[in-house]
Amino acid sequence: MNEKYYITTPIYYPSDKLHIGHTYCTVATDALARYKRLQGYDVMFLTGTDEHGQKIEDKAKEAGVTPQEFVDRIVTGERGVLDLWKLMNISNDRFIRTTDDYHVAAIQKIFKKMYDNGDIYKGTYKGKYCKPCESFWTESQLVDGKCPDCGREVQDAEEEAYFFRLSKYADKVQDLLENTDFLEPRSRVNEMVNNFIKPGLEDLCVSRTSFTWGVPVDFDPGHVVYVWVDALSNYITALGFMNDRYNDYEKYWPCDVHIVGKEIVRFHSIIWPAMLMSLGEPLPKKVFGHGWLLLDGGKMSKSKGNVVDPYILAEKFGVDALRFFLMRTFPFGSDGNFSNELLIQTINTDLANDLGNLLSRTTAMVQKYFGGALPEGCKTWATPESFDTELIGMASGLREKYQAAMDTFAPHKALEEIFKVIQRANKYIDENAPWALAKDMDQNGARLAHVLYNLLETTCICGILLTPFMPGSMDKLFAQIGAAPEARTWESAAVWGSLSDTAAVTKGENLFPRVDVEKALQELEEAAEAAKKAALPPLEFEPLLEEKVDFDTFCKNDLRVVKVKDCQAVKKSNKLLKFTLDDGTGTDRQILSGIAQWYKPEELIGKTLAAIVNLPPRKMMGQESQGMLLSAVHTEHGEERLNLIMLNDAIPAGAKLC
Ligand code: MSP
Repeated sequence: MNEKYYITTPIYYPSDKLHIGHTYCTVATDALARYKRLQGYDVMFLTGTDEHGQKIEDKAKEAGVTPQEFVDRIVTGERGVLDLWKLMNISNDRFIRTTDDYHVAAIQKIFKKMYDNGDIYKGTYKGKYCKPCESFWTESQLVDGKCPDCGREVQDAEEEAYFFRLSKYADKVQDLLENTDFLEPRSRVNEMVNNFIKPGLEDLCVSRTSFTWGVPVDFDPGHVVYVWVDALSNYITALGFMNDRYNDYEKYWPCDVHIVGKEIVRFHSIIWPAMLMSLGEPLPKKVFGHGWLLLDGGKMSKSKGNVVDPYILAEKFGVDALRFFLMRTFPFGSDGNFSNELLIQTINTDLANDLGNLLSRTTAMVQKYFGGALPEGCKTWATPESFDTELIGMASGLREKYQAAMDTFAPHKALEEIFKVIQRANKYIDENAPWALAKDMDQNGARLAHVLYNLLETTCICGILLTPFMPGSMDKLFAQIGAAPEARTWESAAVWGSLSDTAAVTKGENLFPRVDVEKALQELEEAAEAAKKAALPPLEFEPLLEEKVDFDTFCKNDLRVVKVKDCQAVKKSNKLLKFTLDDGTGTDRQILSGIAQWYKPEELIGKTLAAIVNLPPRKMMGQESQGMLLSAVHTEHGEERLNLIMLNDAIPAGAKLC
């Protein structure tokens, strides 16, 4: 088979590091792409980054770098987007950045073509703008006066801008949505038609003049093309549309499926087809809108500070365990609640218990009872038991059920079917009690070999179908059960007996170790806390005071060198230390200072410090404080730090500081 299959993820905003929600979308698309390759399709899997817009321009300014430097850091920098996809074993064939020269030049041509055919015109934009979402809204689209996507405040906006005649395509788009399978799941069709098309599609603002980080409109300096014309067109420029960088447009377009998150379904199912209609190009075959991964029932976002870092999880549990969890647990079209507990539970139940046990028990028995290879001829058994027939039937019929699920974008159902077979196979071990058969090898050896072959073959079929989800681990699984390349194919997944009956079996490393729940949860909490801290600014200082102080006023502060004669914690206070100080007068001075968090009393005895000694005495916890010790204060990764001003011990007590 050499049929083409073109599949895409959205291109990601590199305004912050990507989180588990982004990873979910890319892993799902990767699993679907790998599934199609397994079937023999010639797959083009595209992902990339959407690098223009005001938000990026603002963030770069904040960081004191150029927008290009800013996005480079997040895309190609350490633990950036590219690193993450490499870690997650994402098999994209191409990666597009909207700042790539060829894309920028193609966008200018696309814009000009739509302008020339009358679908883009100049006007004045008056409306509401949501900066974080980079979306314009009309008054009627707002929810409680706020952005309908993110719920944040919107601003009034008015400026000269180019518009795309989206309204012209309303009927055609409505027809596409209602009368074809263009958009799935079907529930999203009503949402689009009722919320956006029926109330009246307005023309879309497609250029701005108030910022510069976009694609310049070459025939009207000052205007930059931003968001949707720039971003959506990536799906065709990455194939070579209106550029010479690639030459795959004829081969792969129209796209088979755009996988997108639910909040951008509107752009992909209304604006994108309308743009393609305007350009006179074929429409993609399908847009699939998946749900969100939620945290405590709400959306994850950097601004809420509740993002889950995929690096931490992949490093802790393994890339494949994480990929598997994401696909197994959440029905792809709906929202799902992420939790560490759920992740660990899935790893322990499905991977460690069910799959891990099946593999390790089976390989161990082939080694123990047959020295690592079953005898020739063990594939068949003249008088099969009912459980033989049941297991073989289930395993042989698995590919069909799996395919039906995968073809309808239900990877969670495909995995559910696989695990029914794995559970059945584990039960089959108990039904046959191989350890009992092994007691009399002369009598039962042939039967035992047949039982173990059935288990190996079942494991092999499940392994083939699990490959799109856990490619790395399945390679190891195949090595352990001795599955040759020809036994690992899509075809062999539906033909019972593809695995050689004399394959060399080795009980290798445990592919899915059991996770200690308590320990892992605590470590994750600590890691998240450390990551949160690391993300805070390394050093922060109080801003310098604007207000001036005259010299005479300054001189009224009596600052002196003091020596610590004694220092003790104040009872019932976890903050205060009580100092007995030599201030050079011959009479001890007592100062209380709230620094117990930073110093142990005994380490301060004998130190030479600085104090202001003419503050009016003050009572704290019933004790008098006659002044204040001077210290330096700053914030490090969000935590307050304090250092007492320590002076050279050669300076005598009572010396004036000025
Ligand atoms: N740049 C646009 C897409 C342009 S496509 C022509 C964009 N980028 S994004 O980085 O904000 O989001 C990329 C994808 O990640 C979207 O499909 C979005 O739905 C998905 N996710 C972001 N957070 C998510 C979850 N918490 N859960 C699942 N997917 C989520 O939108």
